[in-house]
Amino acid sequence: MKNYDIEFLKRFSALIAGLVAFTIVLIVFAIILHDRKPREPSPEQLARIEARIRPVMGVYAGETGRAAMLAALEAQRAAQTAQAAFGGTLDGGEIYQKLCSACHATGAGGAPKLVRAAWEKRIAQGFDVLLRHSIEGYQGEYGLMPARGGNPALTDEQVEVAVRWMLDHLE
Ligand code: HEC
Repeated sequence: MKNYDIEFLKRFSALIAGLVAFTIVLIVFAIILHDRKPREPSPEQLARIEARIRPVMGVYAGETGRAAMLAALEAQRAAQTAQAAFGGTLDGGEIYQKLCSACHATGAGGAPKLVRAAWEKRIAQGFDVLLRHSIEGYQGEYGLMPARGGNPALTDEQVEVAVRWMLDHLE
């Protein structure tokens, strides 16, 4: 071979070696870049994010909004019943014994005892008013009737059966 052929081969192999090195650098760079790219979140991650950023309250508008609101109310009520006081019992007597009697059996804090004389004027207001006062609480001239007898876990229905039981057991 001539001298310049050898010279050419030397340079050419150097060039090839350089290109191979450059390719390797590119591959490594691509791998690093790929690792840095944020990955697609998994469905479980998405669900957790959804739960975290869910608004505390919703704004409902229009007919669909109304339906959604009613559904939400219904769900809320179901959830409340599930963890209602005293195992969700609808036995008015049991609720009275466990809660209301603390005041109404003794007259503590000005609570009317279960004697008819103490209730005639109250009954005259109508059952709805008695029930509302029991659910929302009521400051009267004798004292403070706490909302739901002081146990917010009591459902409307439970308060109602307790009031009915009391009215049925006046002496
Ligand atoms: C911490 C004491 C207390 C407890 C517990 C309590 N009450 Fe009362 N309640 C009162 C007082 C005091 C009044 C009278 C308020 C007044 O008229 O001045 C009252 C009044 C009432 C009235 C008459 C309201 C009216 O409009 O005249 C009803 C009905 C009633 N309570 C039902 C209940 C029921 C049902 C429970 C149990 C779920 C209960 N209360 C538990 C203190 C209590």
